[in-house]
Amino acid sequence: MDILLLGSGGRESALAWKISQSPLLGKLYIAPGNGGTTQYGTNVDMSPTDFDAIDKFVTDNGIKMIVVGNEDPLVKGIYDRFADSDILVVGPSRTGAALEGSKDFAKQFMVRHNIPTAHYRSFTADNIEEGYRFLEELKPPYVLKANGLAAGKGVLILPTIEEARESLKEMLSGMFGASSATVVIEEFLSGIECSVFVLTDGNDYRVLPVAKDYKRIGEGDTGLNTGGMGAVSPVPFADDSFMEKVRTRIIEPTVKGLASEGITYRGFIFLGLINVEGEPMVIEYNVRMGDPETEAV
Ligand code: AMP
Ligand code: GLY
Repeated sequence: MDILLLGSGGRESALAWKISQSPLLGKLYIAPGNGGTTQYGTNVDMSPTDFDAIDKFVTDNGIKMIVVGNEDPLVKGIYDRFADSDILVVGPSRTGAALEGSKDFAKQFMVRHNIPTAHYRSFTADNIEEGYRFLEELKPPYVLKANGLAAGKGVLILPTIEEARESLKEMLSGMFGASSATVVIEEFLSGIECSVFVLTDGNDYRVLPVAKDYKRIGEGDTGLNTGGMGAVSPVPFADDSFMEKVRTRIIEPTVKGLASEGITYRGFIFLGLINVEGEPMVIEYNVRMGDPETEAV
């Protein structure tokens, strides 16, 4: 089978390396790819969100599977675009991708399925006064999240209520464009984070090795957050008893919840978890593998 892989990160380099080892693979194309991916396949100068160009390319080249590395094409609905064709897309439908594309949608989904996550509420410019009042109910530090995609930069953690009020106002006035027209405010959770990756066909699932990424730019884990400076796997604290809680309280209700709501999901689920005194809670869902975690996984 010939495969098209979408994306251009270290993640795609790792996926291309692994896919290229399959005896079932014919040709591997990567769009747009990077210097690393040229070792494993052919880079194609095409944007992962240019669905017309992708459609033409896969049709012209007889490609039967598209593996989606990054979130943008998924949130924009690449699965739905090919749903009526014989081309398989590894990734969720547009509705499923909203688990990453809308933090408010993700929080509501978790509440519906009793999946442990921080207490929260969502606000827009229309009810900012209620947002200020909700901040009063919380203890510092304050966690404010842009509802939509913001390239990993849409979460602010503010030490004082004055800064939290100011940031809420700025976010709702377009700090992250349309992505922060709705802001999720949630309770701060204290613990160590890890990333759990699941591959599902909508019924069954496989849990992949657990990883941990290091986001801060400076030596000694200091400075601003980046998308990820490096990653390790396995993660020592994610032992059997912790992972059993993750499986029964988070993975199973997520996979069953998607199915029960009729949401088509055939792809990776990335659970951003925090270990709060031995209890796993969900910080976020992503609908793809992590970058750089995929390299370690
Ligand atoms: P996210 O983009 O949702 O993964 O958030 C980015 C980072 O913000 C996370 O990796 C956490 O380090 C931090 N964070 C997000 N939500 C919370 C929370 N409720 N409590 C503590 N830290 C959080
Ligand atoms: N390394 C974090 C992410 O891929 O979102």
